[in-house]
Amino acid sequence: MIEVNHLHKYFGDQHILKDISFDVKAGETIAVIGPSGSGKSTLIRCLNLLEKPTQGTIKIGDMFIEAPHFPKKTVYELRKHVGMVFQSFNLFPHLTALKNVAQGLMTVQKKDKATAFEESMHYLSKVGLAEKADHYPSQLSGGQQQRVAIARSLAMQPQVILMDEPTSALDPELVQEVLAVIKEVTKEQVTSMIVTHELNFAKDVSSRVMFMDQGRIIECATPNELFFSPKQERTMMFLEKFAAMSVHDFSI
Ligand SMILES: Nc1ncnc2c1ncn2[C@@H]1O[C@H](COP(=O)(O)OP(=O)(O)OP(=O)(O)O)[C@@H](O)[C@H]1O
Ligand SMILES: [Mg+2]
Repeated sequence: MIEVNHLHKYFGDQHILKDISFDVKAGETIAVIGPSGSGKSTLIRCLNLLEKPTQGTIKIGDMFIEAPHFPKKTVYELRKHVGMVFQSFNLFPHLTALKNVAQGLMTVQKKDKATAFEESMHYLSKVGLAEKADHYPSQLSGGQQQRVAIARSLAMQPQVILMDEPTSALDPELVQEVLAVIKEVTKEQVTSMIVTHELNFAKDVSSRVMFMDQGRIIECATPNELFFSPKQERTMMFLEKFAAMSVHDFSI
């Protein structure tokens, strides 16, 4: 579903992503972990062309991008098939939860209002928020707002969903409800990549875990392999640091 080959990203003369290659099969959930500044967000943003990759190729579904040249049309096509969930929920404050979810269905997918509302209710139910459909973002908790953002992304039925630290802006007591929703929705046939600092969650939810450091993929393996018998020294050091920070588990 996703195939990335020899991807590089420079910001000015700073080499941020260094020869990144990997693939994600349909239905897989990949957790992306690594220290701050290792290039996780930049990678996710390059996949969605929110950042312009400097070199390399990206294939998502039927779409093929050879950096750095691609037509504007490609960006538009890609965004239709790739959903994004950000750290800050990016909901429209003047629209209810229902209308936030329905908006893309009406404007991008040109569905009529009744169909869009019906489908939106279905996805709001999926994230446990059917009864909050008429609430505005300011009337919802952070966790509920993020669940609306997830419903909005799912409603577009994208081929791939990319999430960049979907819980890091939340108060600690709200993190689990959002993680539970993500775990539930990624069980179904959705291909996803999730950047997260919640290592227990990464272990639970993913088919593979990708560990990045200094702009490179150091190791990408099943959660069992990566967490319990990592092959690379740098992965071990990172995991040890996490374990030391948290007595009970891997999460911070
Ligand atoms: N727009 C930009 N212009 C210049 N440098 C940037 C830009 N965006 C990111 N960088 C640099 O790229 C590097 C990787 O940043 P990135 O945000 O991808 O890291 P990250 O792994 O997501 O970190 P964190 O865990 O803190 O979110 C950092 O050194 C950062 O300063
Ligand atoms: Mg980041």
